[in-house]
Amino acid sequence: MPRIHKAEFARRRRALMAEIGHGGIALLPAAPVCLRNRDIEQPYRQDSDFQYLTGFPEPEALAVLIPGRAHGEYLLFCRERDLEMERWEGRRAGQEGALADYGADDAFPIGDLDDILPGLLEGRERVYYAMGAHPEFERQLLNWIELIRAKADQGASPPRELLALDTLLHDSRLYKSAAEVRLLKAAAELTCAAHLRAMQACRPGLREYHLEAELDYCFRQGGARLAAYGSIVAAGANACVMHYQANNAPLRDGDLVLIDAGCELECYASDVTRTFPVNGRFSPEQRQLYDIVLAASQTAIACVAPGRHWNEPHEATVRVITEGLLALGLLQGQLDDLIEAGACREFYMHRAGHWLGLDVHDVGEYRIGDQWRMLEPGMVLTVEPGLYIPPDAEVPRKWRGLGIRIEDEVLVTRSGCEVLTAGLPKAVAEIEGLMAAARDRRENAHATS
Ligand code: GLY
Ligand code: MN
Ligand code: MN
Repeated sequence: MPRIHKAEFARRRRALMAEIGHGGIALLPAAPVCLRNRDIEQPYRQDSDFQYLTGFPEPEALAVLIPGRAHGEYLLFCRERDLEMERWEGRRAGQEGALADYGADDAFPIGDLDDILPGLLEGRERVYYAMGAHPEFERQLLNWIELIRAKADQGASPPRELLALDTLLHDSRLYKSAAEVRLLKAAAELTCAAHLRAMQACRPGLREYHLEAELDYCFRQGGARLAAYGSIVAAGANACVMHYQANNAPLRDGDLVLIDAGCELECYASDVTRTFPVNGRFSPEQRQLYDIVLAASQTAIACVAPGRHWNEPHEATVRVITEGLLALGLLQGQLDDLIEAGACREFYMHRAGHWLGLDVHDVGEYRIGDQWRMLEPGMVLTVEPGLYIPPDAEVPRKWRGLGIRIEDEVLVTRSGCEVLTAGLPKAVAEIEGLMAAARDRRENAHATS
């Protein structure tokens, strides 16, 4: 599996410290352990900013960056080795590991924070941290600053400014390095294999969770510990519920099923959607709507290139979908008026995509000032047009209860773009072909057993 090398984490820290400058200090806490119920923990997932700068996988840790500090610029507070605890919970890096394996200049027990942090903050003018993201930590920070302030009459100088770290760090996270692209590609490839397996397994009589199980099987076989978000497996009208999570309804002959799911590798997310017929054959109405979404997807992807702006793919999807709905009579009026009025929002109520990276809805500004951001090489985004006709929509009955989305991951390259999920079929004929082949294989296996 691709990895981010130690030297890259060091490069990222140096870049951030160059932005922070002398007189600044940045503090980044690791994600807390969250309980699921009573004493059972949620699977641990590191905080994305902390991960980006340290690669350190443990909870109860704090990274401190102090540009220009003679005795070390990168300090890591973490849990101490504890053989008794490690027998129950697994190995800890300890301070030795923080130095040897994670590139810290110095490392301290997390229990020593209250003793050491005020001394590190003293004399620094500016403190950078993720404001509002870690309330417990924020309280601690204000306490430490208060302790320094209390000693001002003895010559201590408390920090004067608290600043948001996000704006500095999140811009870097938007530009993916070669190693990050390799990881995103690996996650995309595994996710595509999982979707393909679910499509091949699909048939009337199963339930949504049977397809979710196929996805999970693939993710885990491929070494992903977690899905990047709760998988959506939505049959029939369930696909019109944007964040459908129940995944327990029957897969009915004649319905479509929408799967929005992606794995996470080394904390990098994948986010892919395909919609296909439960029985392997699109009905004429399903196909008509599907082909509009497919055309929107293709037209939007063609707009992803350096020099185009963030909103161009979205605008392309709105145009194609509005044209399509007008042609089917699901909207009435003049095309340009309907586009201007955003009339398609009734059936296409989300945007065409988002940045993708360590977070599914990744960080980074979409606008710079009052302008849409220009796309640049190394940015990764999703393109995910959809059409959702709720069961109670006031349209001819044949359209009701259809929900369709097609979601791909796209890397902006120097010459245009690369679709990271191109290996997963999305044209009607391809989907029908692969589902028919899977059905034949199932029937042959049954006949010879
Ligand atoms: N699965 C979340 C999204 O598509 O944005
Ligand atoms: Mn998605
Ligand atoms: Mn998405």
